[in-house]
This record gives sequence, structure tokens and C-alpha cells, in this order.
Amino acid sequence: MASTHGAAVQGARGAQVLVASNRGPVSYAVREDGSLHARRGGGGLVSGLSAIGPDAGALWVCSALSDGDREAVRRGVGESGVRMLDIPADVHADAYNGIANSVLWFVHHLLYQTPLEPVFDAEFRRRWASYETYNRAFAQALAEEAADGAAVLVQDYHLCLVPGMLRELRPDLRIGHFSHTPWAPVDYFGLLPGDIRAQLLNGMLGADRLGFLTRRWADAFTACCTEFTAGLGSTEVGVHGLGADGDFLRARSHEPDVEERMAGLREEIGTAPDGSARKAIVRVDRTELSKNIARGLLAYRQFLDDHPEWHERVVHVAFAYPSRQDLAVYREYTAEVQRVAAEINERYATPGWTPVVLHVKDDFARSLAAYRLADVALVNPIRDGMNLVAKEVPLVSDEGCALVLSREAGAYWELGDDAIVVNPYDVLETARALHEALTMRPEERAERTKRLVAAATALPPAQWFLEQLQALRELQPNRPS
Ligand code: G6P
Repeated sequence: MASTHGAAVQGARGAQVLVASNRGPVSYAVREDGSLHARRGGGGLVSGLSAIGPDAGALWVCSALSDGDREAVRRGVGESGVRMLDIPADVHADAYNGIANSVLWFVHHLLYQTPLEPVFDAEFRRRWASYETYNRAFAQALAEEAADGAAVLVQDYHLCLVPGMLRELRPDLRIGHFSHTPWAPVDYFGLLPGDIRAQLLNGMLGADRLGFLTRRWADAFTACCTEFTAGLGSTEVGVHGLGADGDFLRARSHEPDVEERMAGLREEIGTAPDGSARKAIVRVDRTELSKNIARGLLAYRQFLDDHPEWHERVVHVAFAYPSRQDLAVYREYTAEVQRVAAEINERYATPGWTPVVLHVKDDFARSLAAYRLADVALVNPIRDGMNLVAKEVPLVSDEGCALVLSREAGAYWELGDDAIVVNPYDVLETARALHEALTMRPEERAERTKRLVAAATALPPAQWFLEQLQALRELQPNRPS
């Protein structure tokens, strides 16, 4: 075992709780006058860390992602409680785009078109070396910063090798890893080269505890370990189903900017021939290959084909925000979504009715406005770790909504009983589900919404985080140091 080099460096005042993730809670942009502008993000980890309070000795280790971030690191600008790693841009690009998003994300979401891909060639090996370097930079920083026996919570597929590397450097730490994605089934994980499979699994098994969003993904991971390694060993596996942040969303969705966006959206949606407001089928996603936005549009087109009586009475409000645009396949997917939406509008639009209202520019206030106006939420991913939109729309919608939900989303395991469940590949079934959702009796819609909201808020982000931290701290130290 390697030396406790990190322990020697970190001294007595190291952090007691550490979080490690690729994307951190803050990002920087260089303004025209050369000054740096900081933007804070949200999400489950941010709420979790604020729940343990400023005196808890917490540190968030993340990567510089942009030129602005790198500039901030070089100028020594930063927020207390955050350490941003200045990983060279080319190494980061190979690790993040080349491996995490193009290989690991694809494996866990079953996204390959297998006749032609994946191809594990010399270029792949070159990128893999960058993934190792990037993981090692995190492991070293964590080893330097952690107090004796501190708890370290490593996040996601970007950092699969960190637990194993960190354990070598600092056997005294309690190491957790959480996967925000699904986990691949054995046969699909088996596409990866044998040594890479072993490295990924053993890297994660360096943790004391591994967390997943649903039992299904936890079981898939365990099955991969049984098949490809000597099993889980002493690593514990737990399930923590991240819920929606009800308090925050309810308050935020009633702020003036949201009300303003609602007025704009109501205009775009318009009124039915009888003067009533048109029904809104709402979806909000990153433009992500796994979100299945294109088949959602095809299902809506089928629904319009099958139900002329709904023409002029319904609008599909689809927000598809840019994501991972460095990858050509994501850019192409965005273009395809726009093409199908335009085709539907060309075929059906009338002077006063635009059947699909598609927006591709990110606007959080407008997303909340759409949630509030939703009659139906369409959440039909091919595969998804959880999908928080499925939890958020019922919670925020003014009138309650019917939820059309893919059985391949993690959220299905918590919300499936009160959703209209679809096979995401079955466009005809999804079209029927849209019809069923639109014609659901108001009392039933209200009843279901109530139960959806209860399930959606069962484990709010702060509790989700604290639960993991506590589970990690309660583990008996059971590894030889
Ligand atoms: C989604 C996934 C997370 C992932 C994140 C990365 O939220 O659920 O598992 O970490 O995307 O997104 P990014 O924009 O940083 O690539």
C-alpha cells in the first residue's frame, strides 16, 4: 500500500466532509474589462452542503471547466469551501468529452448504435490515460485536503477511479461514491475492454459505500461485480432516491419573473376555438440523447393524426436546452429535434395555432412557468438515473398534471403507480398515453397529483445528502490500513 503521503500534508486542520465532482457549485466568466464574474449553481449537493452548515469543515473539490474557471484558479480567486482543480484543458476534454460523456455515459444509457460503435482503438486508450490523470488529480487533492478519518463523497461516472486511488493514498478516510446515472446491464457493460471494466469496478470498490438512485441500478452494479470481479468485497451498496426540493420550487415558481414568463407562454399557447385555454403537454430537458425528445415529438404527431378533434385545442410545449455541444452527436440530435418539431408545425399549424412550441435557449424561470401551466408532463427517456422533471412538474403545476412516464426512468420506481407508464421506444403507445392523460377526469388527476407530489418529495436534497453522510460515518472501519 502506498504511503500516507496525503495525511502528512493535510495537517490537523483538514476538511471533515469533502465532496468531489466534475462540475462544481460555482463557475467564472471573464468580463470584457478583464474582471471575473462568478455564477453559483444549485442542485442536490449544494442544498446538502448548506444543510450541514458553514462550520462543518466542508470542502468541495471540482474541476475548472472553462477558460474563466482556469483564469480564476490562476488569479487565486475562489470561494471559501471550494477548491477548483486547474486540470489542463486538453486532459480535461479527453476525460470529460472523450471518456465520461462518450463512453461511460453511453454504456450506462445504452446509447450505442452497435453495428458501428463503440470502437476501442489506440485513440480510446490515449483518452483513457487522460481519464486516469484527471481522476488522479482529484484523488491527490482530496488526500491533501482531508482531515484524519474525514468523510469523502465522490460523485458520478467522471470519477470512478477516485475511490480506489484515494484509498491507496489515505486508508484512514471514509469514502463514498454516488452514481447519478443508471448502471449498465452486465451484457452491455461487457462491451468495454476487460482491463477497463476491471479498473472501473475496482476503482469504485475502493469506496466503503456506493450509492445509487434506485435498487435497479444498484443491482446492475452488483451483477457486474459478480460477473467481472471478485464481487463487492467489503463495500456496502445503498439506495438513495433523490427527491425534488419542494420548498424551494414552490417559492421560486411564484416569483415575478416566472409570472411574467407565464404571460408570454399563455400567448404562445393561445386559446381553443371555444375560447378556453388550450391544454399544454409540457416537457423540459437538456437536449440529451437519452431523453428521447425526438420520439416524444413523433408520439405527439401520431396523437394529432389519430385525434383530429384535438387540433387547435392542445399545444406541445417542449424546452430542449443545449447540453454537451462539444460532441457532434449532440449537435446533430438538437438539429433533429428542431427538424421534427418544424415538420409537425408545417403539417398541422393553422393561422392561430402552433402545435409545437419549441425553445432551445435555457431559461429556468420559463421552465417553471411551463411547469405551472402543464396539464400533462411528458417524461419518456430511453433510460435515466432518476429524472427530476418527473417529480417537479406535478409539484409545481397550478392545476395538477397527468404524468406520462417512461418505465426506464429511475423515477418510475417511485412514481409509476400514479403515472401513465410507457415503453419509450413505443411511439404508438406513447401517443395513446398522451390521449389518456389529456382526457383524465379532473378528480382523478388531482388525486394522482397529490400522491405523485408526496412520492416526489419523500427525500428532499438536503436529507438525501445527510442520509448518505450519516450512513458513511456509521460504517465500522473494516479495512486494513
Ligand atoms: C446529469 C446527470 C448527472 C451528470 C450531469 C452532468 O445531471 O444526471 O449524472 O453528472 O448530468 O452534466 P454536465 O452538464 O456536467 O455534463
